[in-house]
Amino acid sequence: MVSTLIKNGRIVTAVDEYTADILIEDDRVRMIGRDLPAADHTQVHDARGLLVLPGGVDVHTHLDWDFGVARTVDTFGTGTKAAAFGGTTTVVDFANQTRGERLRPGLENWRRRAESACVDVGAHMIVLDVNRETLADMTILIQEGVTSFKLFTAYPGVLMVDDGALFRAMRVAAAGGAMICIHAENGPVIQVLVEDAVAAGQTAPKYHALTRPSSMEGEATHRAIRLAELAATPLYVVHLSAAEALLAVTQARDQGLPVYAETCPHYLFLTAADYDRPGFDGAKYVMTPPLRTPAHQEALWRGLKTDDLQVISTDHCPFCFNEQPYGLKFSKQQGRNDFSKIPNGAPGVETRLPLIFDGGVKRQGLSLNRFVELTSTAPARLFGLFPRKGTIAVGSDADIVLFDPDETWTIRAAEGHSRVDYTMFEGRSVTGRVKKVFLRGQLIVDGPEWLGKEGMGEFLRRGVSGRI
Ligand code: URP
Ligand code: ZN
Ligand code: ZN
Repeated sequence: MVSTLIKNGRIVTAVDEYTADILIEDDRVRMIGRDLPAADHTQVHDARGLLVLPGGVDVHTHLDWDFGVARTVDTFGTGTKAAAFGGTTTVVDFANQTRGERLRPGLENWRRRAESACVDVGAHMIVLDVNRETLADMTILIQEGVTSFKLFTAYPGVLMVDDGALFRAMRVAAAGGAMICIHAENGPVIQVLVEDAVAAGQTAPKYHALTRPSSMEGEATHRAIRLAELAATPLYVVHLSAAEALLAVTQARDQGLPVYAETCPHYLFLTAADYDRPGFDGAKYVMTPPLRTPAHQEALWRGLKTDDLQVISTDHCPFCFNEQPYGLKFSKQQGRNDFSKIPNGAPGVETRLPLIFDGGVKRQGLSLNRFVELTSTAPARLFGLFPRKGTIAVGSDADIVLFDPDETWTIRAAEGHSRVDYTMFEGRSVTGRVKKVFLRGQLIVDGPEWLGKEGMGEFLRRGVSGRI
């Protein structure tokens, strides 16, 4: 038996904050108390002056994702190593159906790619064709621990499903206790705006934002909520960026509906002004939905404080800015002459915890408990992983982060661990730094040193959503 003792740290969960020792035996937390003794073979880590947090849970990543025109640059190995250095020990990534096929081949393909993961991984399933077979597959997948499904009201002809198909999928999810994750933007209307802009020669990255108005995110969010209400399914709105969408979620929650939403660090710290950066640099910020104005940002912070938003995830969807040896299909340069061809997505899996600690706890006054709730506990609960993940408690997986709340450092892509060649937060000074990370009791990050290995991440069979 391997045993580890973390001594004198300030343990923070979503509900508690206290100083104690944690005894880990093999992969679980065995005991929490004051002055716990160490046996001869016990490895001891002194966490005096550090916060002891449950490992981060990031329920929105796209690792090694090939969607035809582009492919994200992180493998599961590199992306989850970056996650670990950022204090995230659980990732729920998106597997996708290939059009015309059943769901299982898409999931099996994802599982093969995920074998190199360095932290624990679960899968949401993206559903593109809704028909008798795929609806039956959803029920089987739920029993196998894939308990959430993403559908799109955006990207017509590529990822979008119509309202009837969405409603059918929602009814099957409701019957099985699964969660529907919705990418909510009005795709057909956006397509008209994009076509008009390109025809008018408006091809710079800033037109990405100008052709995806916040009202069309609000409209689609409202529509998805009404469909979910009718189907009696819980709904999780992914990458929410707009005040109008938040209003729809807030009103639904006030009605008592099981509607939840996440936002992402880029919507909290960056704005549409970043699309005006010189040259083609605005392309680094092309993700969907786009960055918005400061007024939307203020609404998001309010939502995080009032629990109208429950989760902060990253939507880590990394494409290099410059073409790399992997080829053009992996870079933003595809859209140099036409913003609509810029691969949509941006990196962020490594910087979430420090950014939210610095910007949320230090600057916006979020409590430490809320910080943990937003980045670990709530996503674990909503996606059927709690209490194995998302907290520090006797019997939980010993996924633990030692975090220095006082260290100030500067974010640099060159010091990150993703294969991507930029960060949206280059040069930003933040206070709060991950020092050590344990995955199921094993020390995998020790300062700058990597002690983990590819393949040590386990596939997580998730339960049905625990409502919060
Ligand atoms: O631009 C984004 N967000 N790309 C990833 C795909 C998605 O819609 O989440
Ligand atoms: Zn999406
Ligand atoms: Zn995404």
